Amino acid sequence: MSVSSVVPHHIAIVMDGNGRWATRRFLPRLAGHKQGVDALRRCARACAQRGVGVLTVFAFSSENWNRPADEVSGLMELLAMALAREVPQLKKDGARLHFVGERDSLSPKVRDGLGQAEAATADNTRLVLNVCFNYGGRWDIAQAAASLAARGEPITEASLHSAMGLAHVPDPDLVIRTGGEMRISNFLLWQSAYSEFFFSDRLWPDFDDSALDEAIAAYGRRERRFGKTSEQILSAHPDPMPG
Ligand code: IPE
Ligand code: IPE
Ligand code: MG
Repeated sequence: MSVSSVVPHHIAIVMDGNGRWATRRFLPRLAGHKQGVDALRRCARACAQRGVGVLTVFAFSSENWNRPADEVSGLMELLAMALAREVPQLKKDGARLHFVGERDSLSPKVRDGLGQAEAATADNTRLVLNVCFNYGGRWDIAQAAASLAARGEPITEASLHSAMGLAHVPDPDLVIRTGGEMRISNFLLWQSAYSEFFFSDRLWPDFDDSALDEAIAAYGRRERRFGKTSEQILSAHPDPMPG
């Protein structure tokens, strides 16, 4: 069977299941979100070690504002705390942070924190870490179209792509969703057109290196056809000889 290059260059993750992780332990939901930050730190390190070049994670959706006010404010606080705590280590680990999403409705404190974290890691090249925060796939497409229209530029697939939040990286090869739900929940609607999908029943705080390796192995067994036939793919990329 033809295998995709074994390690995906770009992995995107819907980090779902923090609330259930906490509720099962009779803890407040925010305790699950805190564990989620630890899981993200581990996952980013594991991705860099495995040669993944880009990790994009969904941290807060445009729709998550509809959660109870104390959970929303807790998540905003957690983001500010995580930035303060994690950026020095991310800097050492060679990760370059990008935040993708609508910033105007965030508090000035959070907004400044995002900009400072991006500036502090701007020279890093080992791993690009995109954090989608106050992000929605529909928002991204609409804001890209609006910015092109405002500049009087034609709307084409290429121009839309270059005006969207992930213009600085190639499309994700592998999209993982933890937490057992099999839906996209307004994540990378445009960029996931030809991504491979992997759904894990693990709750995000429990998504460890072995779960990541399982997802990468499943990706390696997929045949990405991009509309072509299997025969075309096989004749273009015959299996390398073992050994
Ligand atoms: C994902 O975990 C994190 C965010 C959406 C912020 P959830 O909070 O959705 O966890 P569940 O789905 O309720 O378990
Ligand atoms: C998607 O999870 C958003 C993030 C992981 C940040 P949700 O928990 O918000 O998705 P739904 O509501 O179950 O579709
Ligand atoms: Mg959820």
